[in-house]
Amino acid sequence: MDAISVIRAKRDGTRLTDAQIDWIIDAYTRGEVADEQMSALAMAIFLNGMDRAEIARWTAAMIASGERMDFSSLPRPTADKHSTGGVGDKITLPLAPLVAACGAAVPQLSGRGLGHTGGTLDKLESIPGWRAQLTNADMLAVLRDVGSVICAAGEGLARADKKLYALRDVTGTVESIPLIASSIMSKKIAEGTGSLVLDVKVGSGAFMKDIDSARELATTMVGLGTDHGVRTTALLTDMSTPLGRTAGNALEVRESVEVLAGGGPADVVELTLALAREMLDAAGLKDADPAKALADGTAMDHWRRMIAAQGGDPDAPLPVAREHHVLRAESTGVLTRLDAYAVGLAAWRLGAGRARKEDPVQAGAGIELHAKPGDHITTGQPLLTLHTDTPSAFPYALEALADAIAYAPQATEFTTNPIVLERIA
Ligand code: URA
Repeated sequence: MDAISVIRAKRDGTRLTDAQIDWIIDAYTRGEVADEQMSALAMAIFLNGMDRAEIARWTAAMIASGERMDFSSLPRPTADKHSTGGVGDKITLPLAPLVAACGAAVPQLSGRGLGHTGGTLDKLESIPGWRAQLTNADMLAVLRDVGSVICAAGEGLARADKKLYALRDVTGTVESIPLIASSIMSKKIAEGTGSLVLDVKVGSGAFMKDIDSARELATTMVGLGTDHGVRTTALLTDMSTPLGRTAGNALEVRESVEVLAGGGPADVVELTLALAREMLDAAGLKDADPAKALADGTAMDHWRRMIAAQGGDPDAPLPVAREHHVLRAESTGVLTRLDAYAVGLAAWRLGAGRARKEDPVQAGAGIELHAKPGDHITTGQPLLTLHTDTPSAFPYALEALADAIAYAPQATEFTTNPIVLERIA
């Protein structure tokens, strides 16, 4: 077997055989296939796609490229959630301890932000002392003691995906449904969760800009999970507007703690509860009541224990940026648009995100939203507060926001999107 014949096959629109897929993933993981050859293949897949059987085999080969975790010794059913990424998407933070408070074990392997979307680990690292890196044994111990753990995936999981994702990121081949589905699901299946709920975001702030592509991605991932014995469902959820009222690391932790304290923005609470119910159903815990666990403090108690178990101080003050700038409404009327991508880009430029994997992020940087689409506003009222330690970033952030906001004089012809657009099982 050789890489050139595999690249040519996909370039010419032929389906790859099982043997070709197994060989190329294994040879690439071992360094025998060069990055430039894998880049060419990724582009051929991007352009010509893969059918369901090819995607299934590609995913299986990626799983086989690394270790598999095993949580079968835990006394609780395991349930995990994956979001395809968005702006202000802090849902994992309240969700993991909430679902643990309701009786499931939540092994939440999470990532860092790249580009305009935030990363769960970056958010949690704004809590003084909190550590993202755990050994597999530590992860299991936190799961056993607390019921939920949010940490970085170990080096050993889906090794091929680590290399391939980094390559796709710099070769314009991220936005391919077969490649995204196999990348996400290889890690989730290798992680060993019994059930999985996918939050597939749709809208300007998401990978999938329209509902048809989001549905195709969700259906592909649900199929892959189900074929591997993981009870998998998906919710398609709106990402045309940022979730909640904050985008940025410490700002989002603060908002998540408000949700755990029984308050917080209505859209964040609604999506947290919708995902919690899906996870609990999939884990066979249909009688659990997540709304009660938020209201009575048991979810907050699990949050505090989870943060402390990973070295964090849940009572420590969160970092605050040194400078801020308030953007005010230019008209009186109804806010009809607050574009998720633009807010994500502006938060990134303020220092909340990174341009390269090795860049640091600013814990306090980001954006507070004082109004959301549908709200009545008056001229001069604060709409957004921009936070950063580097005030030279304000003009670039404001430039990103130039076309992000729209008003209508009346509310008559305006309706907001529902948060949950569709369910796929
Ligand atoms: N997240 C992943 O893990 N992989 C992708 O390809 C896209 C998002």
